[in-house]
Amino acid sequence: MKIDIISIFPRLFEAFLSESVLGKAVLRKFVDISITDLRRFAEDKHSTTDDTPYGGGGGMVMLPAPLMKAVESLKNGRRPRVILTTPQGKLFNQKLAQEFANEEQLIIICGRYRGVDERVRQLAVTDCVSIGDYVLGGGEIPAMVITEAVVRLIPGVVGNEDCVRADSFTSGLLEYPNYTRPEEFMGLSVPKVLLSGNHAEVKRWRRRESLLRTRALRPELFEKFELTKEDQKLLES
Ligand code: 6GU
Repeated sequence: MKIDIISIFPRLFEAFLSESVLGKAVLRKFVDISITDLRRFAEDKHSTTDDTPYGGGGGMVMLPAPLMKAVESLKNGRRPRVILTTPQGKLFNQKLAQEFANEEQLIIICGRYRGVDERVRQLAVTDCVSIGDYVLGGGEIPAMVITEAVVRLIPGVVGNEDCVRADSFTSGLLEYPNYTRPEEFMGLSVPKVLLSGNHAEVKRWRRRESLLRTRALRPELFEKFELTKEDQKLLES
C-alpha cells in the first residue's frame, strides 16, 4: 500500500513515521509512506500556499493551484482515494479505516483550519474526513490518526492478529479489562478467573466484561449491537 500525505509542515511527520509499529511497517515494506511538502508546488518566489478569502472574514484559505498540482504529481496513472482532513468531513471510524486499508493508494491532504478553496474538493477530493467534534489548527494530526488506524489493519503489520480482532470497535464492543504482573498491586487483585487456567471461563468473563462496559460507557454502540443467546445469559448472570 502507498500513502501520500500533502502538508506544509512535513517535519511534523518525522518521528511519527520512524518509531513504533508504524516505523516497523515502513521498514518491513508493508506500506510506503511519503510526505509531500506543498510549498514545492507553490507558484511564486515566496512559496505561497494560501491567501485571504473572497468576501472577507478572517483567516487564510489554501490556494487551489499548488494543491491540484501536488495531487496530480502523486497519481502516476492510478485512481487513489484523495482524502481531505476537515472538521466538516464525515466522522472517521473503524469501518472507514478498514475501507481505506483495502485501497492500493491513499492521498491525504492536510487542510489548515480555515480550509481549502472549495474547487479542490470538487475537482480532486473523494473523501472529506473529520476525526471528531472539536477544532484543530490543521490536518497533520488527523492525517497521523488516519494513517495509524489504516496501517495496523494491513495483514502482518500487527504481530498478533487476535489483538486486531479483539480491538474495541472491530467487534462492535469495547475491549475487556487487561491485567499483567503482579497479582496484587496497591491492594488491588487480578480477578481470580484470569489466574485459573480455565480458557473457557476466561473467554466467558471477558465477553461479559466487554458487554457490561459497552452498555455502561457507550450505550449508543450497545443499542446497535446484536446480542446472541449466550450474551443475554451472560448479562443476566
Ligand atoms: Cl480533520 N481537521 C481540523 N482542522 N480539525 C479537526 C479535524 C480535522 N477533525 C477534528 N477536528
